[in-house]
Amino acid sequence: MRFNIAVVPGDGIGPEVTGAAVEVLKAIAKKYGHEFEFKTYIAGGGAIDKFGEPLPKETLEGCMASDSVLLGAVGGPKWDDLPVSIRAEKALLGLRKGLELFTNLRPAVIQPALKDACVLRPDIAERGFDIMIVRELTGGIYFGERGRNEAGDTAYDTEIYSVYEIERVARRAFEVARKRKNHVTSIDKANVLESSRLWRETVHRLGETEYPDVKLDDMLVDNAAMQIVRDPSFFDVVVTSNMFGDILSDEASQVTGSIGLLASASLGESQRGLYEPIHGSAPDIAGKDLANPIAAILSAAMMLRYSFDLAEEADEIDKAVSDVLLEGWRTADIKEPGAETWLKGSEMKQKILEKLR
Ligand code: IPM
Ligand code: MN
Repeated sequence: MRFNIAVVPGDGIGPEVTGAAVEVLKAIAKKYGHEFEFKTYIAGGGAIDKFGEPLPKETLEGCMASDSVLLGAVGGPKWDDLPVSIRAEKALLGLRKGLELFTNLRPAVIQPALKDACVLRPDIAERGFDIMIVRELTGGIYFGERGRNEAGDTAYDTEIYSVYEIERVARRAFEVARKRKNHVTSIDKANVLESSRLWRETVHRLGETEYPDVKLDDMLVDNAAMQIVRDPSFFDVVVTSNMFGDILSDEASQVTGSIGLLASASLGESQRGLYEPIHGSAPDIAGKDLANPIAAILSAAMMLRYSFDLAEEADEIDKAVSDVLLEGWRTADIKEPGAETWLKGSEMKQKILEKLR
């Protein structure tokens, strides 16, 4: 098969980790006889420095013309004080909106080899967990009307959702659940917010009419924040709004204890997706060959699975990663307390590549 992949390395450790993921994709392509063509585009802080804007037109157009996008991370302290219109995060929000990627899949899962890294009490960690957070990504308070009054001493942001927006992301969540444990938990704040009441009604209507085989329950977001640390094994698929999903996915990923390992996929109606590690640009360790490439590599595997329908190839990458971890290889971010040696990022990449020959 032939695919065009747009690579947006971004800032900080983005270039190192996407570089590793591209090498892994090349290895898989060679092994299975696929042709992947890579084109690199600039976005984020680097683009602000060079072109004065975080998401140059060529980047958005290049991504729109691609079969899928692999992104590293954008932003860093250097660009934190810029006006909001040209902040590095705009690149991410612009890509999501421009590519109409309304669904964000964020798995929070404990790698069997890393149970000890889980920050929860051992008896809770022992039960393990594997949560797929399905976050709405192009609506809600992130994109609703906002502003200030004339005096500038009062500001507002608007949480706004239509049935159409809720249905399309919920549909994705039900579909994903059918391939997992068939359980969806819809998270909202329906005891207070009208938008949440519409969310709940809509998800239930869809569940009853189109997915009666999938178990559906609701949880208020504050309770969900508690349950993620109290009994994360309860959850299978979680579906929620843009902002609740932003917060809960960070919480869930941190609970695994290995945020450097977690991948994500952003999907729309078409086959094209945007795949990125969830760890961010980590400017403090950039350029030191310390960054763990695993999250980016697993993001590349998600691309094969969700955009290119290459499940076997994706499984092979996932297995290469878990095998390397089971053999005990660790980068600095996941080393055992007291360990004196660990792999550099490039060495970890090499270990994984060796499994893919
Ligand atoms: C994320 C990030 C972004 C978000 C920021 C950088 C705009 O936190 O991908 O979760 O809030 O969506
Ligand atoms: Mn976030």
